Amino acid sequence: MLLKPQRAGGGVERANDIGLLADTIVVEKLSIDWVAACGKLVNDLQSVCWVHSSPLQQNSEPTIARLCMSARLETQSMPAEAYIFDAYGTLFDVHSAAARHSAEIGERWQVLSDIWRTKQLEYTWVRSLAGQRATFWQVTQEALDFAIAASGGLDAALRDKLLSAYRELDAYPEVPGVLGALRAQGAKVAILSNGDPAMLADAVRSAGVGDLFDAVLSVEPAGIFKPAPRVYELATSRFGLPPRNMSFLSSNRWDIAGAKAYGFCTVWINRGGRPDEYPDLAADTVLDDLRGLIA
Ligand code: LAC
Repeated sequence: MLLKPQRAGGGVERANDIGLLADTIVVEKLSIDWVAACGKLVNDLQSVCWVHSSPLQQNSEPTIARLCMSARLETQSMPAEAYIFDAYGTLFDVHSAAARHSAEIGERWQVLSDIWRTKQLEYTWVRSLAGQRATFWQVTQEALDFAIAASGGLDAALRDKLLSAYRELDAYPEVPGVLGALRAQGAKVAILSNGDPAMLADAVRSAGVGDLFDAVLSVEPAGIFKPAPRVYELATSRFGLPPRNMSFLSSNRWDIAGAKAYGFCTVWINRGGRPDEYPDLAADTVLDDLRGLIA
């Protein structure tokens, strides 16, 4: 539905394409009431996505064309009220466990680590679709056992070291600074992860970032893994915000697809420079790493 200029009464209807508005509406002087109403409209748009903050132009000439230009600017620049982060792969480097023991594993450490991660995720999806409960720690162990078997075996002591290392993964270097900056802007910052509560507690403690979160949410209460909608609902319920006012960030493209379907504004952290997927569930923003959030 398009915004319809009405001088008497100044009614505003919902619009679903602010760009179309800017391109098609006749340029004319409008009352201050109209300006305020149109500005409010922007906040109601489903398509509004906030990525990072920057000053909004305050003194635009109040014509509908310029207002819509400002609206477009505003939709791209207003900060989210809450930033919800995936944990494994987004904040914590899942390959740092095998990397730490690469000398003992040998050259195949990266292959082993890739299989470990791939199988870990596959096991979550199978459990979810089959309606079977499992914990993330359980599937992490099962996936490691498969990866070890598939890559030529490993002694039991090294298996245990890898699992211990997975409880204390390295955080990516920009994580503390970016989280701190987002909180300094007044935003809520949280984790929403497949990880069990105890795994997540270990991860944030060992990385020294525990104080930077307003909430660390595990899928556990939902009884299912991502990308089930009721997992994403844990975050909206926790903060009492509509999903479009929340920014969901993940390095996992399938997680971004699920979050987009749920209604979050989505930021794909494409750390590996991977090709895009899920064209029907496109990320609203793509960044190389988290630094772009505060740039
Ligand atoms: C997580 C996994 C998907 O943290 O990386 O939820």
